[in-house]
Amino acid sequence: MSVQEVDQKVIMGSRHLERCPFPIPVGWFFVAYSDSLAKGEVRNIQLFDQEWVLFRGESGKPGVTDPFCPHLGAHLGHGGVVVGDNIRCPFHHWEYDAGGWCKKIPYASKMPPITERQPILRTLPVQEKYGLIWAWHHPNMDPPTWDLPEIPDMDSSDYVKPHRKSWPINTAIQELAENGVDFPHLKFLHGNPTIPHAEYRFEDHKYFVNMDHGAQVGESYGPGLNIFRFSRNGVSATMVSYTQPITREQSMMNMSFTHKRYPEGSQEATVAEHIVKHMIGEAEGEDAAGFESVDLVVWNNKKYRARPVLCDGDGPILQYRSWFKKFYVDGDRLNNI
Ligand code: FES
Ligand SMILES: [Fe+2]
Repeated sequence: MSVQEVDQKVIMGSRHLERCPFPIPVGWFFVAYSDSLAKGEVRNIQLFDQEWVLFRGESGKPGVTDPFCPHLGAHLGHGGVVVGDNIRCPFHHWEYDAGGWCKKIPYASKMPPITERQPILRTLPVQEKYGLIWAWHHPNMDPPTWDLPEIPDMDSSDYVKPHRKSWPINTAIQELAENGVDFPHLKFLHGNPTIPHAEYRFEDHKYFVNMDHGAQVGESYGPGLNIFRFSRNGVSATMVSYTQPITREQSMMNMSFTHKRYPEGSQEATVAEHIVKHMIGEAEGEDAAGFESVDLVVWNNKKYRARPVLCDGDGPILQYRSWFKKFYVDGDRLNNI
């Protein structure tokens, strides 16, 4: 073959590859653990490639706002305080509710007319579920187009208190999520004895997978929530993951692990505890790399190949990518992903 016949795009040198050519996706994303945010607390957080102010009103209602006051631009997270269910700016004490409406200007005889018509501070739709605070991210501020599902494993007293873990990762959320359809890596990277047999389907914002005939069953709801249930000898354990896009190149992978409350000391309790320990890499006699932490060496150092060379044994990588595009505004027009 002459040099002219070689498809240069395929062998494009890595110098030209962008590590994370993705925008921040649309969806519900984890913000903070409910029990970590007290009434009246104000906290600065980094999420969706910018800074936000998270606060909890005196009635318990949480809010996530843009940090900079619409008045003269003071940072609400540096000196701002909670008053009732509002956050009060330190500079001139204007107050805003969790929906971004200006509720009070202590020295105005007449409120600016715009404050009667619309919110003036950008805030995110927020809800609290399964002991987690969630925010809806859409770059154009469009309202939520789906709701978070019920997860009895996280809410019901039939399950043990979830064990939580977090890992900072130097890559975009799509790269982490793609592992969900990369079935061969479960053998070669994670040490599964075989490549699992997988059945899967994509449906609107959801993705379902069933591996090895019910041994591992997963559901995804957009890019920010994934539930996996592992079964062994009739006992099952649950892993709920809720990764956060921190910047375009940094993610925080967060997980909760739980299982049904079996009688203490029973065979079932031992199996369930072992499944959880195995997932978090604390099972005795096993390599302590952890269920997900073996992925980190790959994720932290890889580059995204928009035109990967695939083989017939690979999972539905391209199908997954086209499903994921629906979470990018104008995703179909992004031709480098
Ligand atoms: S800058 Fe916030 S009240 Fe003036
Ligand atoms: Fe993995």
